[in-house]
Amino acid sequence: MQNLDENTITAEAVRRLAGCKDARFKEIMSALTRHVHDFAREVKLTEAEWMQGIEFLTAVGQKCDDKRQEMILLSDTLGLSMLVVALNHKKPPGCTEATVFGPFHTDKASDFANGADLAVGAAGEPAFIRGAIRGSDGKPVAGATIDVWQADGDGIYDVQYTDRDNALFARGRLKSDASGKYWFKSIKPEFYSIPVDGPVGDWMSKAGRHPFRPAHLHFMIQAPGYEKLVTHVFRSDDKYLDSDAVFGVRSSLVSDWVRHEPGQAPDGTAMKKPFYTLDFDFILNPAG
Ligand code: BEZ
Ligand code: FE
Repeated sequence: MQNLDENTITAEAVRRLAGCKDARFKEIMSALTRHVHDFAREVKLTEAEWMQGIEFLTAVGQKCDDKRQEMILLSDTLGLSMLVVALNHKKPPGCTEATVFGPFHTDKASDFANGADLAVGAAGEPAFIRGAIRGSDGKPVAGATIDVWQADGDGIYDVQYTDRDNALFARGRLKSDASGKYWFKSIKPEFYSIPVDGPVGDWMSKAGRHPFRPAHLHFMIQAPGYEKLVTHVFRSDDKYLDSDAVFGVRSSLVSDWVRHEPGQAPDGTAMKKPFYTLDFDFILNPAG
């Protein structure tokens, strides 16, 4: 077709997908074409602005390497990651809610026994975290794999350091015991800034948005017969709960980290400085 104008071009671009054999891919590409065309029409996009957009997306791609995922950060800060989580993890009431995965998980984390200190020297105030994994029927889930990761007390993840020989800390993998319980020592999480030294930081600053995430501990819990749970536990006293840079807070995941004066810790050790405890149970949704 020739002589397409600003209105007729959309139908023609969608029509060119007619030969696509993958029905789902065709559905996604048709909708994407319609929506980006509508976007350009709505804001009356100029050529200079679109070139700026292309340069921005190019910079986002170029910022990515094996340690830095600027594309995920873009999706997170646009609220797209949490929208996709919300669309795909509608759970029955009572199940622990899912939230954003984020860019700082690594499969290279070590396995630990319950009771271990996952901080492995990370800066921060000591915290004892414990709870149980149960199914929505109330039955304990034994042998669940519990992946935990968090930023250190300075708000930096181990994988972000460039001067520590790739050492991993404040993360690890545990298994729930025969009665579904888990417990470990780590550090109290603190609020932190998402990485702002790239194009995503530039657009957020231009937009007048702050880059902070409220303090949280990440969990990924997997057990046969249950849906994988990717979630966080937040701190109830954090000032960024209502303005998380990546829209990830759910009130059911906000919890009290209780401060204790020096004395005996839950694992029996004598603590010379104040410490914190968090009690949090996770309720898994049966698979299917
Ligand atoms: C995180 O919580 O680790 C995170 C999530 C989204 C963007 C940046 C960091
Ligand atoms: Fe995080």
